Amino acid sequence: MAILVTGGLGYIGSHTVVELLNNGFEVVIIDDLSNSEKFILKNIEEITKKKPVFYPFDLKRKELLTQVFDAHKIDGCINFAASKAVGESQLKPIDYYENNLFSLINILQEFKERRLSSFIFSSSCTVYGQADTMPIDENTPLRMPESVYGKTKQMGEEILIDFAKAYHRKISLLRYFNPIGAHPSGKIGELPIGVPNNLVPYVMQTAAGIREKLSIWGNDYDTEDGTAVRDYIYVVDLAKAHVAALQRLMNDPSDETLIDIYNLGTGKGSSVLEVIKAFELANNVTVPYQICERREGDITIAYANPYKAEKELNWKSETSLEEALRTVWQWQKYLESRKV
Ligand code: UD1
Repeated sequence: MAILVTGGLGYIGSHTVVELLNNGFEVVIIDDLSNSEKFILKNIEEITKKKPVFYPFDLKRKELLTQVFDAHKIDGCINFAASKAVGESQLKPIDYYENNLFSLINILQEFKERRLSSFIFSSSCTVYGQADTMPIDENTPLRMPESVYGKTKQMGEEILIDFAKAYHRKISLLRYFNPIGAHPSGKIGELPIGVPNNLVPYVMQTAAGIREKLSIWGNDYDTEDGTAVRDYIYVVDLAKAHVAALQRLMNDPSDETLIDIYNLGTGKGSSVLEVIKAFELANNVTVPYQICERREGDITIAYANPYKAEKELNWKSETSLEEALRTVWQWQKYLESRKV
């Protein structure tokens, strides 16, 4: 069975490709390399001893996409391909809507015409905004996200729900909390391009001396230590949830619509200070930091109730924060070794 993985050389995409290959799926990757690099493909092959098919192009090029569907028997799709920088999305809204939504619609056109089902969409807990109660389960009301990036995720979800209902297809919307870490092999991870926005890559680069100091965006939040709280989930655990979600769609014998929605997190919130401490302890390093003003658009607290995924997917996050942060450091060492 061939699964199309768009954005398959990206951060979560590459880890999911590894899990798919390890579970006996054939994988066809489309990735335009806009936020990834070709060596990730070689490293996926080294880790799995298997060779996914790879096409380097932009999914907005519908004619190339059609050729891929003609050339392979695609049984399902996991769609990771999207631009994801929150700040940039505010400055380039039209580019974000075009890139994130046109590519999705192009794939859905192929799915519609070829009567394919089993589509997994990479969504985000950002669709909940600042929820009134914790933990966040799938019935928590959605709030229109502040960022254009977040809006493309919410719109993507809507498009998919309409698609599934109208054509009786099976889809899964996976709402990730904060993915962190790298593969235990040390060969794939989050590629640092420019100055990182996300906490863990910034911590990693500060510990490595690439950045002088981490700025903690606010310590006056209404939390135990005053810094904001998130649910950090290990990327390999997250990747495994994709395989479980795909198997559930594919094994559903009915011809009826199936719309699965899952929050993927650990169920545990950690503050910024806790993450820094855990990183220092796990890797025996120091992370210099300073307290700064709050970052615009940040929420105080978000952590998942992962019970639905546990029950229906028989999936659970297994890796502790410390273990996940150890792989981050291992990945940094690997990146350094590539430079020399
Ligand atoms: C961000 C995005 C979210 C996206 C997610 C992907 C925003 C507002 N939200 O979530 O839409 O789905 O990344 O992983 O950008 N922090 C610092 N110093 C730093 C960096 C971060 O103190 O240098 C703090 C932040 O204020 C936040 C926490 O660390 O409290 C986590 O930040 P980050 O990793 O950027 O994730 P989110 O903001 O939760």
